[in-house]
Amino acid sequence: MKAAKKIGLFGFGTVGKGFYENLKKHPHIPVVIDKVCVKRIDLPRIGHELYFTNNPHEILEDPAIDIVIELIDDAAAAKVYVEKALENGKHVISANKKMIGESLEEVDLWHQVYEPSFLYEAAVGGGIPIVHSMDGFLHDQEVVKIRGILNGSSNYILTQMQQNQWTYEKALLDAQHKGFAERNPKLDISGIDASHKLSILAYHAFGEIHSNKSFEIESIETVSEADIRKAKSKGRKIKLVATLQRRNRVVECSVKPEFVGPDDELYSVDFENNAISVEALISGKHVFVGKGAGALPTGSAVIEDLKRVLGNYRYRTTLRPSLV
Ligand code: HSE
Repeated sequence: MKAAKKIGLFGFGTVGKGFYENLKKHPHIPVVIDKVCVKRIDLPRIGHELYFTNNPHEILEDPAIDIVIELIDDAAAAKVYVEKALENGKHVISANKKMIGESLEEVDLWHQVYEPSFLYEAAVGGGIPIVHSMDGFLHDQEVVKIRGILNGSSNYILTQMQQNQWTYEKALLDAQHKGFAERNPKLDISGIDASHKLSILAYHAFGEIHSNKSFEIESIETVSEADIRKAKSKGRKIKLVATLQRRNRVVECSVKPEFVGPDDELYSVDFENNAISVEALISGKHVFVGKGAGALPTGSAVIEDLKRVLGNYRYRTTLRPSLV
């Protein structure tokens, strides 16, 4: 029997714990969490059998660690850890949409230069297998449009405000308690978090890098009670919609609140659910719906990446001339 692969885990917050809880339900996966790197080792936690350290080098420089799983919210530190781990021959799994979305040139280079896999399904759409689908089934055909709800917290807030007349403040607090929102929830409500995810999708859909600096981004804070009443009176809902469209070789990207009607596939996507509609020239429109935030759904995407790493899966994506 082959020895279990050793995992070095960075971060034990919402997603880290979600991954840990999920992994316990999959004893057949031949891995073991060898070390967990956290900022503070003195905090009481679940996972008493785990070895905690606050020294990243204990993982990065340990030749016995095969796979690094990076689930921290500090994008700058994550970038350093991910690159060092790849350089040291370790497979890496990350959920860091900010780091990946803002560093796609480096990410593209890492895919080309380093032999180990670098996978990040959990960075987009929580538990929805969208990155894998873009890199797999949809990789060799032209994608002309991606449109969706890419942030669970802002969708949760808008849903509670519209369905249950909650105040914005109450809904935000609840999204934080439920572990949907980022440590800095401004990223969720401003549309920035969704824009990072859109950049990642653009890279996988088109093999191109589109920085969110060129996106039109509008916060859900601009949605007033009058807007909500107006939407309701017209039988519509307000959703934070992320759109990426290719027209005449120009890619237009935006994240902004929109009125959507019952005939729109995003209309019934409520609470922390996300939806991503992908229009491909050959196979048509595909709509992926599922839980876009939360410990267990996001942790399950990490588990999927782990299984793929064990099967030596690598993303096929590298920058390429426009397909369209
Ligand atoms: N804060 C994010 C969201 C978590 O609400 O969608 C999942 O990326």
